[in-house]
Amino acid sequence: MTGSAASSRIRRVSREKLGSGIVRLFFKQALAELRLNVSRRVDFRHSRNGEAVRAYCAMSAEEFEGINARQKWANWRTIPRNLHGRLPLRPCRAVDLCCGLGHSTQVLAYYLPAGSTVLGLEYNPEFVRVARRREYLASDRAPVAVSFRAQSVLDTFRDVSGRPLAEGSLDLVNCCGALGLHFVRSDVERLAAEIFRVLRWGGLATLDSGRKGVDRGAMTEVFERRGFRVVSAAKSCFLDRFTQVCFRKEDVMSPKNHPHGGPIRSEDSPLDEGSAESFRAVQPAAFRDQPRASIEAGVTDPDVDDTIGGE
Ligand SMILES: C[S@@+](CC[C@H](N)C(=O)[O-])C[C@H]1O[C@@H](n2cnc3c(N)ncnc32)[C@H](O)[C@@H]1O
Repeated sequence: MTGSAASSRIRRVSREKLGSGIVRLFFKQALAELRLNVSRRVDFRHSRNGEAVRAYCAMSAEEFEGINARQKWANWRTIPRNLHGRLPLRPCRAVDLCCGLGHSTQVLAYYLPAGSTVLGLEYNPEFVRVARRREYLASDRAPVAVSFRAQSVLDTFRDVSGRPLAEGSLDLVNCCGALGLHFVRSDVERLAAEIFRVLRWGGLATLDSGRKGVDRGAMTEVFERRGFRVVSAAKSCFLDRFTQVCFRKEDVMSPKNHPHGGPIRSEDSPLDEGSAESFRAVQPAAFRDQPRASIEAGVTDPDVDDTIGGE
């Protein structure tokens, strides 16, 4: 599949999943936010995280559905654009930070390879209860193993039984609609340390950035200092004020990154996997036809990868 074919497939899936036009979604969001501000005096647009989570905890799940309409639309575009051609060729373990009612988690479930698992972490326990009741389907409509835990993502990431996630145990950490609005730089420094701890070498972090919270420049600085490298960035559309940046936890022992060609290869980089056939067996339908060469290079067509020059 060419880059532009993948790009139009992403747009088609997004239309199928959301069913209504973008203008209607934006209108729905504006009205829901106005109602929340005026009649309930709840304003969630805080960059101080404590105030933001207080506002989210004061909302009902229906109110959140209203104010998250734009985000829900954006997720079906930004997440696949960043993941396209960069996933390992086997089931993945992913965490969705600040997952809300599970809208972003549903996108991950759809685009991750067959057999993957996703853990959603969310502060508001009521949102977690609602998220647990949703359906999480892969692109072939097979149910995906998804679990949720109510906790702050500024604490150690834990599994549903409360055990800290093991070091190097994840392939992907995703976050949508949170860091670019509700977190300051010092929060993101804490998060970067925890994301570095739980990701395996070569693992990906796809994280939203925006001017009201942590912008793209500050986030890149924090993550690069930790040993991550930016591999792509995506917006839902050119008017989007938020950019989701995709970082890779660099494997310093991989020959690619080692100045003299180190002896150890990243255990599950796409380059180390079996044949193109094994790739086809595990990749979701949306990515199945991507040319092997572009997968190996970790490169996607600029049309799909919508890489942005700046905030
Ligand atoms: C705009 S919503 C995005 C939800 C979801 N990621 C999506 O894309 O639909 C932001 C979410 O971040 C959650 N959140 C904010 N700060 C948090 C924290 N420190 N720990 C966990 N969740 C947090 C809020 O409760 C809210 O559900």
